[in-house]
Amino acid sequence: MYIYNKDMKSVEKEQLVVNWNADRAEKNGYDHFMLKEIHEEKDVLRRTLGEYVESVKTFLNKMPDMSKYDKIHIVACGSAMHTGMIAKAIFESYAEVETVVEIASEYRYKKVFYDERTLVIVVSQSGETADTIASLRKAKEDGIDTLAIVNVVSSTIAREADNVLYIRAGVEVAVATTKAYLLQVAMFLLLNLKLMYERHKITSQKLSEFLKLLKKSPDYVEKVIAGEKDYFAIAEKIYNDQNIFFIGRGIDYAMCLEGSLKLKEISYIHSEAYQAGELKHGTISLIENHTKVIVLMTDRDLSLKTISNIKEVKARGADIVLITRQELDSDYDFVSEKVVLPKTDDYLMPLLAIIPLQLIAYQVAKLRDCDIDKPRNLAKSVTVE
Ligand code: M6R
Repeated sequence: MYIYNKDMKSVEKEQLVVNWNADRAEKNGYDHFMLKEIHEEKDVLRRTLGEYVESVKTFLNKMPDMSKYDKIHIVACGSAMHTGMIAKAIFESYAEVETVVEIASEYRYKKVFYDERTLVIVVSQSGETADTIASLRKAKEDGIDTLAIVNVVSSTIAREADNVLYIRAGVEVAVATTKAYLLQVAMFLLLNLKLMYERHKITSQKLSEFLKLLKKSPDYVEKVIAGEKDYFAIAEKIYNDQNIFFIGRGIDYAMCLEGSLKLKEISYIHSEAYQAGELKHGTISLIENHTKVIVLMTDRDLSLKTISNIKEVKARGADIVLITRQELDSDYDFVSEKVVLPKTDDYLMPLLAIIPLQLIAYQVAKLRDCDIDKPRNLAKSVTVE
């Protein structure tokens, strides 16, 4: 190759070989969209909270009026349904509102008990999931109020629901949802504050403190993502396994469901999530020497109970990977691998604890040479029944 200057004299230039292609550039240099999207979590969270929590006044204006409802139904599929499980734990413990979570493909065909004091919340990244759309239409036909938590603007669900809260995660390319999941959880944390405020569970002063706390959450998310190498080291220890179990109690169980789905959908390792106290009712028979059990333990009130469940599986030979928080960390002798989340308020835990699970799943799939962004048999948006 010859290069000339403006006087048409040949000049020597140093060659720099860029090992990128258009695909890599689109991924901002990351090997996969999934990893890029996990790394975007701190930014999209900051942006969405910036929009909804500019001030207490903005927050109160942007959140729907929930005062009329005494029961909430959350209907969704897959990961979106798992965010509903987190919402149930939060709504029931903080706002004391009875919350039912249902899988959309069941809800659409079953006898549902709701009335004018019930709010049906549908959650969907794409806004085009067939079963979720059908459930939304069923509630509307029955005259029940509906609210959608959606990412894709002007999607079918966004257009048809009575009210919509956009999570604004931006485009999510990887089939396995990560940043949209995190923002759905964040939206439920905001909605819960509105419920608490309307039910006089918190004063405006306390509401303002909670909102300030949430605004700090992207810094914590960033900190947790920065631990990536440690999570990748855990992936090295588990990627050859055939079966992996996730256990936790309460809200930790809701996150286990998502951790398990993330792992199985992209790595093709068989995985199941259980409420920690439930294993001994059958599934514990599957635990043998070196079966990997990933334990999520962030709930302070339930930690002693979870520890006793860890001991049960440890006694059957399991290798324990513990994900806990600084406040609950100790020199546990039953643990093979450990992730310790930073010290912060309980309210932020659902935004943090999922990140190591997403990154472990990612790295396990990478080590197994799987098609991470497009796992077999799966589509980003399930528009058929
Ligand atoms: O677009 P939606 O949020 O309605 O999609 C729901 C599920 O299909 C989706 O969350 C699915 O479970 C993901 N593959 C999980 O990563």
